[in-house]
Amino acid sequence: MRKFFIAGNWKMNLLRDSSVALVHQLLAQLNSSNNVDVAVCPPNVYLHDVGVALRGSLIRLGAQNVHHAAEGAFTGEVSCSMLQEFGCSYVILGHSERRAIFGETDLDVNTKLKAVLKSSMTPIVCVGETLAQREAGSTQTVVRGQCTHSLAGLTAEQMTKTVLAYEPVWAIGTGKTATPAQAEEVHADIRQLLESMFDRTVANSVVIQYGGSVKADNANELLSQPNIDGALVGGASLKAESFLPILEAALKIMK
Ligand code: PGA
Repeated sequence: MRKFFIAGNWKMNLLRDSSVALVHQLLAQLNSSNNVDVAVCPPNVYLHDVGVALRGSLIRLGAQNVHHAAEGAFTGEVSCSMLQEFGCSYVILGHSERRAIFGETDLDVNTKLKAVLKSSMTPIVCVGETLAQREAGSTQTVVRGQCTHSLAGLTAEQMTKTVLAYEPVWAIGTGKTATPAQAEEVHADIRQLLESMFDRTVANSVVIQYGGSVKADNANELLSQPNIDGALVGGASLKAESFLPILEAALKIMK
């Protein structure tokens, strides 16, 4: 049985005081429940403050990126052990902004993924096509390619510990959302691919989030799709009044 997982990707937004204030608002208003997993992923410099504010709550802490090496001369980078010291439970990998702006490849994602899986953190691996790729009819090929290469070499056990996020690039931060049918089609196809790479049990156990302009008014429909197991939320995660309704929608549907 898969559990809904809603994560807020704050990207490079909010300063320290507003980050902590947001956490306090979420905790004050959240209907605490073990039935939905929830995480927030602030910029690294606020992991400590946000982690302290979350202490003892059901909301988990996540990071937006990590370096694969354990330590060394990697100016500006942060390792898995460092994130764990801050109490991180999740790490987002291969977000489309990392891929497009910072040149991360599937091989980079794969290397980072293996490092995260050696830690006790849960990776969230992002995949998704651009508008040009969708319009060219290559969504399936692109997404399957990203999954195949990013997940290469994983054992079945490692796969079940990995979260995937399907995020069509054209829907990220644009206000355009994939229709529930468009999203479900890709999610179902990813699950089929997982079945062919691993087996049906593994495919059925992997949590696949949808991301791309998820908001209060579309969360219910998206999360009601059989193969959509949660949301990776950018813009709407920056305010309690836009993030909480998404959590409430998940709690209501609860598979
Ligand atoms: P968005 O971002 O919700 O602002 O579209 C989603 C994401 O980038 O994960």
